[in-house]
Amino acid sequence: MRVLTVVGARPQFVKAGPVSAVLRRENREFLLHTGQHYDREMSAIFFDELGLPTPDRNLDIGSGPHGEQTGRMLAAIERVVEEQRPDWVLVYGDTNSTLAGALAAVKLHVPVAHVEAGLRSFDRRMPEEINRVVTDHVSSLCLCPTAAASAQLEREGMADAVVTGDVMYDAFIEQADRARSRSRVLQRLGLAPDEFVLATVHRAENVDDAGRLGAILDGLARSRCRVVLPLHPRTRHAIARLGITLDPNVHAVEPVGYLDMIQLETAAAAIVTDSGGVQKEAYFAGRPCVTVRESTEWVETVETGWNRLVGCRPEAIAEAAACFRPQGERPDLFGDGHAAERVVAALSRGPADVRAGGPTRPGHGSPSTSR
Ligand code: UD1
Ligand code: UDP
Repeated sequence: MRVLTVVGARPQFVKAGPVSAVLRRENREFLLHTGQHYDREMSAIFFDELGLPTPDRNLDIGSGPHGEQTGRMLAAIERVVEEQRPDWVLVYGDTNSTLAGALAAVKLHVPVAHVEAGLRSFDRRMPEEINRVVTDHVSSLCLCPTAAASAQLEREGMADAVVTGDVMYDAFIEQADRARSRSRVLQRLGLAPDEFVLATVHRAENVDDAGRLGAILDGLARSRCRVVLPLHPRTRHAIARLGITLDPNVHAVEPVGYLDMIQLETAAAAIVTDSGGVQKEAYFAGRPCVTVRESTEWVETVETGWNRLVGCRPEAIAEAAACFRPQGERPDLFGDGHAAERVVAALSRGPADVRAGGPTRPGHGSPSTSR
């Protein structure tokens, strides 16, 4: 099997790690980096730390408005798909790199497999929601992290999704011991376990809106907790542009590598975030999560009592950061740490419509193809 994997943004490097390792045991993978993220701490550090294969090609697309960035990726990925003619194009998550990879492939009649399919925030103002919906609906194979995600696809008329578990959980389990033994981030930042709050903010709807960004930073300041804030470059630029001065209890640092990040997550008294991946990792680590959004795709973490949605209300953020300390059960919502094996097994079975003897028709497998 020849698989062309498209990655480009930080969370995709984390997700691709476990899958590439399993995939390469018996198959050929061409790893294509779109170059959406390019700073060392947003890209190269993940390849080094996670032992990811070096990308076979980097398209160096870089930053830009949605249409321009996605369009440039689309044209460049198309050329690589033409050249490689893989059996599958494999995409992850919900970024512009995901959308461009999926669109380029489906137009060339190469089947698309989507890892992290079926997630919905039901907020179409989020660019990620558009990327998810379109990618799912042009994919021949939807690989869902949870049963809830596959049920959502069934409601949208796609009955043949495969529930694999969450590949980010695989990564977290695989790297937890290495993080404990290698990361020196707590010493470097002078942090004691349980005595700080970890915060990340990078969503466009929070960062590009001065009112929302100001309110979130105000909430962190008012918590009076010691807050460590690894700054995504989008957020760093916004803070500089708006001339915001952070309160003394909010300590901004450069983005950290994955090992440092999971060490910080594991040691934090609570985590305040708008990241999709970090909400899940808080759950994996058994740490309270305070989500500075109005909705989340990871509803299970809220339903089990480990994640609280507070929007951007400063008082609610401050109160939850300082006091929200759930104690309840943490059922295994995200699989057993072997999602990557299920992803590769599903790819090996081939697209549903090919197995059923028909032409490759994206998105909707034949009704006879129950998996
Ligand atoms: C993207 C994804 C988002 C994901 C996030 C993960 C889209 C639409 N959004 O958001 O879903 O949660 O990645 O982190 O795909 N920049 C740098 N250096 C870099 C990368 C970016 O300085 O290495 C700056 C640039 O000013 C750029 C801005 O960050 O304009 C935003 O980058 P972009 O990739 O467009 O979106 P993200 O906010 O990173
Ligand atoms: N992450 C990291 N360093 C940081 C911030 C995040 O290694 O400074 C990791 C985090 O542990 C998770 C992934 O990046 O594995 C999440 O990416 P991000 O929050 O950028 O995007 P999202 O998940 O919201 O799409």
